[in-house]
Amino acid sequence: MPEKILVVDDDVDSLKLIGLMLQKNGYEVIAANNGSRALQKAVAEIPDLIILDVMMPDMNGYEVCRRLRANPDTQNIPIIMFTAKTLIDDKVAGFEAGADDYLTKPTHPAELASRVRAILARSSSGKQPKKGPSKGATIGVIGAKGGVGTTTLAINLGAAMLQQGDDPIICDLRLGQGSMGLFLGMGRSHGLANVLRRSPQDIRTETIEGEIVTHASGLRTLLSSAHPREMEIKFTPDMASALIEGLRQLGRPTVFDLGAGLNRITAHIQRQMDKLILIVEPNTPTLTMARELINDLATEGAGRINVAVVNRAQSSLQTPWHEVEKILGQDIRAIISAAPELAFQSIEAGTPIVLYQPNAIVASQMIKLAEDMKPRIRSIAGGDS
Ligand SMILES: Nc1ncnc2c1ncn2[C@@H]1O[C@H](COP(=O)(O)OP(=O)(O)OP(=O)(O)O)[C@@H](O)[C@H]1O
Ligand SMILES: [Mg+2]
Repeated sequence: MPEKILVVDDDVDSLKLIGLMLQKNGYEVIAANNGSRALQKAVAEIPDLIILDVMMPDMNGYEVCRRLRANPDTQNIPIIMFTAKTLIDDKVAGFEAGADDYLTKPTHPAELASRVRAILARSSSGKQPKKGPSKGATIGVIGAKGGVGTTTLAINLGAAMLQQGDDPIICDLRLGQGSMGLFLGMGRSHGLANVLRRSPQDIRTETIEGEIVTHASGLRTLLSSAHPREMEIKFTPDMASALIEGLRQLGRPTVFDLGAGLNRITAHIQRQMDKLILIVEPNTPTLTMARELINDLATEGAGRINVAVVNRAQSSLQTPWHEVEKILGQDIRAIISAAPELAFQSIEAGTPIVLYQPNAIVASQMIKLAEDMKPRIRSIAGGDS
């Protein structure tokens, strides 16, 4: 796969020029024309390198650099600062803000290419797996609204990751309202309830492991049943936290069906999700609710939502995706087509769509999303995921 480079410049002409030079050298280029968009894209895309202009109106390059360094997700991405200035003070300020290298405009294409190559070589040799027991990443799938396909996406992400050689667990946190098991033909499974019925200090890796049930496909699950009485089981935020930490030892990664919106449990544990995927549908009520949810989560720290996915998109009608991006103030990472018949059949067969009909368009969209999540979760899992 080509290395991905994020180029940030408020000047569209230099954005194009640098982008072209890099593309000619075989890199994948993404662009942002201001600081806040750059931060968003850096978190969403986890590029291999960022080339950052210093002079930008909304937020200058130093500030962008500082914020990238303050976020654990982006702190290790190499940064080259790019500016028209040649003053020595600027270089110092750039390095102090955390830049790895400095280039002055105008730059000769050969110089740009060689600096980029050098930085990328340096950073990839530094990417040795960490020592010690590594933990699995956690991915939370959250719906802007009920019924948008949160459970479907969580199941299929897990199944696609399994196909791609990972060893994921999917976990249905909706005690007494579980539909994950029902979609997989494992409706009687209630492993989560069994874990929670124990005393809180018993919520540990070993006890959780005993409640994991493997689907016919090999996909491991920790399920909630649809038995309403399960809702009466005591489930506190602390218990949920212990559960997640326990699952980190088992799932590579663990994908959580968080349900729609926020409740007492999900509001607490969203912080423990390494990645949050927001599912929306392209209609006004859902997008309005999504906007509210994004705002709510943003008070927890900017950019909590890493990935936004539009589900059940129909080509001809509904809000166009760039409108959706505008409403959400967030890039859309994946668009999943509407495939009602296939969705129905896969449930009847108890088999995730990506395994039931891997060549269908929806399946390939889901598989691509799973692939796309990988570099993001690898940076957390410490190299062995
Ligand atoms: N891309 C799609 N195209 C067509 N139907 C879909 C798609 N994704 C999901 N569905 C169907 O929509 C219905 C709702 O999906 P799902 O249960 O996954 O949503 P949810 O957001 O988890 O709902 P709930 O809030 O009830 O938990 C299901 O019947 C599912 O098969
Ligand atoms: Mg659901």
